[in-house]
Amino acid sequence: MSTDTTSFQADRGRGVIARYREFLPVSAGTPVISLGEGGTPLLHSPRLSAIVGRGCEVYLKCEGLNPTGSFKDRGMTVAVSKAVERNTAALICASTGNTSASAAAYSARAGLRCAVVLPAGKIATGKLLQAMAHGARIVAIEGNFDDAFLVVRALGRRPDFAIVNSINPDRIAGQKTAAFEVGDDLGDAPDFHLLPLGNAGNITAYWAGYREYLEAGRSTRLPAMIGVQAAGAAPIFHGRVVEDPETIASAIRIGNPASWETATRAVQDSGGGVDIVTDEEILAAQSWLATNEGVFVEPASATPIAGLFKCCDPARGPAFPLTKIPEGSKIVCTVTGHGLKDPDAIADRTTKLAAVPPTEQAVLRAIGF
Ligand code: F0G
Repeated sequence: MSTDTTSFQADRGRGVIARYREFLPVSAGTPVISLGEGGTPLLHSPRLSAIVGRGCEVYLKCEGLNPTGSFKDRGMTVAVSKAVERNTAALICASTGNTSASAAAYSARAGLRCAVVLPAGKIATGKLLQAMAHGARIVAIEGNFDDAFLVVRALGRRPDFAIVNSINPDRIAGQKTAAFEVGDDLGDAPDFHLLPLGNAGNITAYWAGYREYLEAGRSTRLPAMIGVQAAGAAPIFHGRVVEDPETIASAIRIGNPASWETATRAVQDSGGGVDIVTDEEILAAQSWLATNEGVFVEPASATPIAGLFKCCDPARGPAFPLTKIPEGSKIVCTVTGHGLKDPDAIADRTTKLAAVPPTEQAVLRAIGF
């Protein structure tokens, strides 16, 4: 295992290509398009650790702290840098929101044109505004993410476009760096890793990252990978395409994931599992994390937390019950995107503010402690 962790620390904030160049498909001649992504906190969660109990430690990999507010930036820096190296004219992606925000930002940074194809009316406000702010050409289609992705796949065959969805191997390569960071921060790979499962690129990337770190002698073990889907959009859990996926977690409202096979292999080879959680459980987990740990994530990102609660509750028939998690295990949950990206999901549950007079007494009464 490497002992030289100080250089990794010093590289924090310089972007994932600077930090993990030797593991990425770049050469000295590749122009680096970076917004300083990666280096996100791996927060210990004392309250989740207490809930799991038996000496287990739970950590949150807070990917909402990337430059555009989601883990997509890790892959986008590599995909856009490679696109510039190949003299690509324009980038294109389908998205449930975060990929489009990231692609738009990195394209702006690179001076490339960017087109995003989105399911009409299904994108969280924050993400749509980001893509607009960065000057992407936005096309809304009458259909869902899976329909948008089919169109983008077809357009990607034309010479003028490079697809920056996670079917682009450069995206997966960049996203692997999250697993490297977890290994560097913990001093080894964890025992279990939970994360949301949508188009299934991220679980594919983490698994590749953990394996590469093991092969490179930077870690000594591999975690069991546990993917968590929303009950209304759970093709991998059910083993069949879902025609009309529906969930409050718009980022993972996907019925036919592009990286289905590699995700299934990651789960099987790692001895992990796939589980589902309801929208109610997702929203409760989102709220729990914000009020108990001070971490505000978007609904899709709360699925691993809801999944972990389910693991701890045998009455709910978890696919991966706590009995499979030995004492003293290290458990990492990736929370993939920032809560401010999807204000509508939380706004419905907040209380309406009534103004009171600007006096000490009135404010004290309103606080009501
Ligand atoms: N969490 C968030 C916040 C996401 O935006 C996504 C995917 C996922 C989890 C699932 O990751 O697809 O690699 O399994 N968002 C994509 C997008 C589909 O278009 O932004 P995955």
